[in-house]
Amino acid sequence: MNEDKITVTKSFLPPKEEYFEEIQSIWNTGQLTTFGPKVLKLCEMLEERFDIHRMLFVTNGTVALQLALRALKITREVITTPFSYVATTSSILWEGAQPVFVDIDPNTFNIDPAKIEERITDRTEAILATHVFGNPCDVEAIDSIARKSGLQVIYDAAHAFDVKLQDKSIFQYGDISTCSFHATKVFHTIEGGAIFCKSEKMFDRVLSLSNFGHEGELAIKDLGINGKNCEFHAAMGLVNLPYVGAIIEGRKRVCERYDSLLDNHNSIRQTFPPEVQRNYAYYPVVFEDEKQLEVVIAKLRAHNIYPRRYFYPSLNRLPFLRQQPILRNSESISRRILCLPLYPNLAESNIAKICRIILDAS
Ligand SMILES: Cc1ncc(COP(=O)(O)O)c(C=O)c1O
Repeated sequence: MNEDKITVTKSFLPPKEEYFEEIQSIWNTGQLTTFGPKVLKLCEMLEERFDIHRMLFVTNGTVALQLALRALKITREVITTPFSYVATTSSILWEGAQPVFVDIDPNTFNIDPAKIEERITDRTEAILATHVFGNPCDVEAIDSIARKSGLQVIYDAAHAFDVKLQDKSIFQYGDISTCSFHATKVFHTIEGGAIFCKSEKMFDRVLSLSNFGHEGELAIKDLGINGKNCEFHAAMGLVNLPYVGAIIEGRKRVCERYDSLLDNHNSIRQTFPPEVQRNYAYYPVVFEDEKQLEVVIAKLRAHNIYPRRYFYPSLNRLPFLRQQPILRNSESISRRILCLPLYPNLAESNIAKICRIILDAS
């Protein structure tokens, strides 16, 4: 096989010199971590970008979810989506709470608010929903259910950097919103994550929990953990930030090419509401059935092309969970979905090749 390998994603790397220049001052300050100047600067820039004044830069998007659940004192049942990455469910379990799955809308791929209320019990404490592939959940419906039932809302916005709903950053919704800054994301700090809090009180709690439970230098007020991120990761974020606009533009170009070349194909795409400003984080295609998906994967692999079955499996099927109800939409979509290669400089010829293989195979 002589064709170059094409993977589902390719991490953005800024010019080396820019990163080296950014990290230079670390040798002057000698401060490598623990709320150093670069971490603080990154938080300040992101708070301004999203018009949010309470952001914390943590080690990754999974720890961000765990800290959010812990800060909201969630220990019992959490209504959540079965169609997300495993971290959404595992963070609930890791915090000792129980996930209660509600099926998704087959068009948006997000949790279906119309099915939430029937799963609320006197043990329910929160809703944890994912903005799947950067597509905002029905935040108004979720907010109204939560207020009516006295529940807290956490959004897993791991995929949603720079996504806006009605001109407002998606991170502004929910009691707490989290993001992943993992290397594969639209904006990354190699490893990293963020927590955005609605209230000052919640922010203080998350801050303390992420710093061993410290309050000030001496007092330990809570059972905390070390969720702090460091100067080198913040430096990568500071250098990457100016490129995000171009990265999203590049992704948009690829998505629009896929849209037009696969226009007549019998697969399904995710539906975005018109008032959303997208970030083109993923290009998922839902095939007619799993067999068709497997044929496409095999043919793409034969050309050294590696898409990703994402999300798979539907999280209610995780082997370490107690018996769960069948969730038709999530299970059906997760068996048939494939995320196609997507990164800004994916060559036009490769996009055409991928689409030709898909069209020929199905
Ligand atoms: C929806 C979702 N939530 C949470 C995470 C976890 O983020 P991280 O890899 O930064 O821990 C991911 C990672 O891909 C994700 O896709």
